[in-house]
Amino acid sequence: MDVTILPAKTIKGRVRLPGDKSISHRLAMLAAIAEGTTRIENFAASQDCHSTLACLRLLGTEFQLTGESVVSISGRGLRGLLPSSVPLDAGNSGSTIRMLSGILAGQSFETRISGDESLRGRPMKRIIAPLREMGAQITAHDDNYPPLTIQGCPLHNIQYVLPVASAQVKSAILLAGLYCEGETTVIERVATRNHTELAMQSFGVPVTLKDRSIQIKGNSAPSAIQTTVPGDISSGAFLIAAATLLPGSQLLLQDVGMNPGRRTFVDLLLNMGASIEVMNERVAGAEPIADLLVGSALLKGGTVSGELIPQVIDEIPILAVLATQTEIGMEIRDAGELRVKESDRIRSIVDNLRVMGGEVEELPDGLIVKGRQSLSGGRIRTYRDHRIAMAFAIAGLTAVNPTLIEEAECAGVSFPSFFEILSRLVN
Ligand code: S3P
Repeated sequence: MDVTILPAKTIKGRVRLPGDKSISHRLAMLAAIAEGTTRIENFAASQDCHSTLACLRLLGTEFQLTGESVVSISGRGLRGLLPSSVPLDAGNSGSTIRMLSGILAGQSFETRISGDESLRGRPMKRIIAPLREMGAQITAHDDNYPPLTIQGCPLHNIQYVLPVASAQVKSAILLAGLYCEGETTVIERVATRNHTELAMQSFGVPVTLKDRSIQIKGNSAPSAIQTTVPGDISSGAFLIAAATLLPGSQLLLQDVGMNPGRRTFVDLLLNMGASIEVMNERVAGAEPIADLLVGSALLKGGTVSGELIPQVIDEIPILAVLATQTEIGMEIRDAGELRVKESDRIRSIVDNLRVMGGEVEELPDGLIVKGRQSLSGGRIRTYRDHRIAMAFAIAGLTAVNPTLIEEAECAGVSFPSFFEILSRLVN
């Protein structure tokens, strides 16, 4: 499906965002291996999280969806999952395949898991290596790519220093750690999102946090919880950008997740001069949330690099779009991980900014985007990458001509109601 975006004057309105994708994956996985029934409100509508649910169902987990976003999951207990008679399909979701592999490694049966074309090109060595250190038996295409065949077996605890700043890798090890005797420790050189640690604590799993190390006690059976998922700030980022860019905008986002490892996009924009009021800060379940009131502003721009990168990794496509309208432009560095996301996002951003007449320089680990540019519109190739589709839809609102987003339905991977919400807000 192609979607045409017309230049817009302003956006106005209020939005309650769909539940956070990262948090929903973790809650669903822990619920499946918990004792008792977990009820999750505002579960992510994203296709990725539905891939996780579909995999869990094939492993014998029963769940009930009420309406679009309430899910009740009957836990099978730590050792109660069942072998699937067919391979699991993680779809487009790196979180599903990488995190679930940690659980699958500790089972008493074999599982095969794969995904769509994009996922089959994404590196898995990063989880295979530490899981093998724990005793896991995993084979993969070229020892790196899906399909993965995971022969469950007894695991042993390790202490592991993460060589890549990846919350998915950290989570795979911690989930596998549930199946070990003794304590499993992950040490992060650079902090990544801590949703797994927070979710494990809510499910009653003993987790010890010290500086950059996370330790969990093995053989700990999670106990079911009742919880509500915060709105997904990574989805909200596209709307925040639209309100920032279009003069006279006023947008209220309600119940947005404000986890310190995820709110950095908001803090970065505030440092660059954005008009974002963070209101009603409170806690929902284990996670901080707030309401955000966003108005338009001219952003200064600047450099985004180093330890900030893992905290805004999913927001870089929309940051690059924002950069075109800043005073001094933006330089994004140390973001080589973008090359192995749903698409090679450095390429996807550079190609599409150029399609719109933008000036941008490609770096091996980032990009340099000139400020104060006028974008012309054009035909956007999304590479079926949801965040590229949404970022360039927002670029299209600021362009002088119409912008066509090819295969725009891929936005559903994280934010199925994106185009509907956008058209309701736009004037
Ligand atoms: C995620 C971690 C990040 C992020 C992805 C979701 C998670 O990936 O880009 O969208 O839920 O843990 P990496 O672990 O590969 O950095």
